[in-house]
Amino acid sequence: MEALISKLNEDQLHLLLSIGENQDILKNVSETLIKTTPSMLSTPESKSKLEQVLNTYNNKKESLLADIKTIEEGSPILNKIVEKKPIRIYMDGVFDIIHSGHFNAIRQAKKLGDVLVVGINKDEDIIRAKGPTIMNDKERIFLASACKWGDEFVGYTPYTPNIKLLDELNCDYCAHGDDIVFDENGKSVYDEIIKAGRMKYFKRTEGVSTTEITGKLLYNTLQQEAPNSDTFNEYKKYNKPVQSKFLETSRRMALFSNNRAPSKSDKVVYFPGDFDLLGIGTIEALKKAKEEGSFVYAGIYSDELVAKIKGKNYPYLTINERTFNILALKYVDEVIVNPLYKISQDFLDLLNISVVFNAGNTDDDSEKLNVDGLGDPFEIPKKNGIYKYAKVEHDISNKLFEERIFKQKETYLKKFIKKSLSDEKCKELSTVKMNEI
Ligand code: CTP
Repeated sequence: MEALISKLNEDQLHLLLSIGENQDILKNVSETLIKTTPSMLSTPESKSKLEQVLNTYNNKKESLLADIKTIEEGSPILNKIVEKKPIRIYMDGVFDIIHSGHFNAIRQAKKLGDVLVVGINKDEDIIRAKGPTIMNDKERIFLASACKWGDEFVGYTPYTPNIKLLDELNCDYCAHGDDIVFDENGKSVYDEIIKAGRMKYFKRTEGVSTTEITGKLLYNTLQQEAPNSDTFNEYKKYNKPVQSKFLETSRRMALFSNNRAPSKSDKVVYFPGDFDLLGIGTIEALKKAKEEGSFVYAGIYSDELVAKIKGKNYPYLTINERTFNILALKYVDEVIVNPLYKISQDFLDLLNISVVFNAGNTDDDSEKLNVDGLGDPFEIPKKNGIYKYAKVEHDISNKLFEERIFKQKETYLKKFIKKSLSDEKCKELSTVKMNEI
């Protein structure tokens, strides 16, 4: 690196840094500059400056590239800049009870390069490092792979990645949230990669975590199934009021959105539901909905409506968290936040809906969903012959999460307490602080 620094002048080094950091931005600027002619500019100074820059542009570019190419110790990343190869980012995680914080992490990691490889850690490593997960590795791989921002998904990856893994996956950098991760020996998981200068960070998303969701699941199941148990009393000692909240800014909403409206030729599908904690059954159902047409609207029921349908302790996630989750999936094109429960003819006409989709684990029991005396919410689409029900194989409610938590309540309680305390410690120790990208 020293040879590179001595060979290039300051301008060239700055240029090099900007290319590395902002490839897309720089590409746009240079393309616009090349298309600009001096006659398009207003002042004689700017005209002559542009003329000069354009005249010398090719020579300078050639000599800069030649300079870089002659540096023998040029890193693979430098070579990629010269050869314009895509920068590949590896980001990994446990992704247990996948949530909007995980999705926002995948979204941000994608922005750090051109191609994003998402690694889903294997069960045995996680059990050793931080205890059991609610979803096993096969399920976690299936769920994470539904995210629209990942280009490649690799399962059963080690909890402690190293340079060898990055090279095997042909990745230039590894990315992680700006929180510190330790292994079972209290050592930073990314040590080797950090030392090699191949670590990148993005902002960890506030107010949402697997620990917090596990806490809600524990509370709900213990309250219903074992309200007088020691486990419940122990849990209540550690269940602190929520410290921070997932921010539902319009910028974040725009970053998650596909920003696409259906075209005239699209076959529009509408699939309403609560879309609470994401399980395999929900992804299975959304996939089936997408097969029914070319543009899928997911309707996300309000918190109040979900409570009316499922009971007062539901949903686990707020309407905004559920909206962000669904927007992150590749099978959904747009969401309708808080739609009317009973589907009206106006609504179908307004959105040009050809199929109203519904799914569950049993034979269709939609007419039983009589909320506020409104009767079957799908009455009109059924009459129009555009209602489609699909029976899915896997659990579509949150029963599976609840059953698993309750079966091993003591284990999860211990893990919940340990993780709550270590999350606090992480916050204190974390020195890298980023802005959301
Ligand atoms: N992540 C994030 N924001 C969150 C939660 C996770 O940015 N609210 C990021 C982590 O920093 C990591 C990736 O998502 O880069 C995968 O995280 P994971 O290994 O699944 O677990 P945790 O960091 O322990 O997060 P959680 O407790 O929510 O599972």
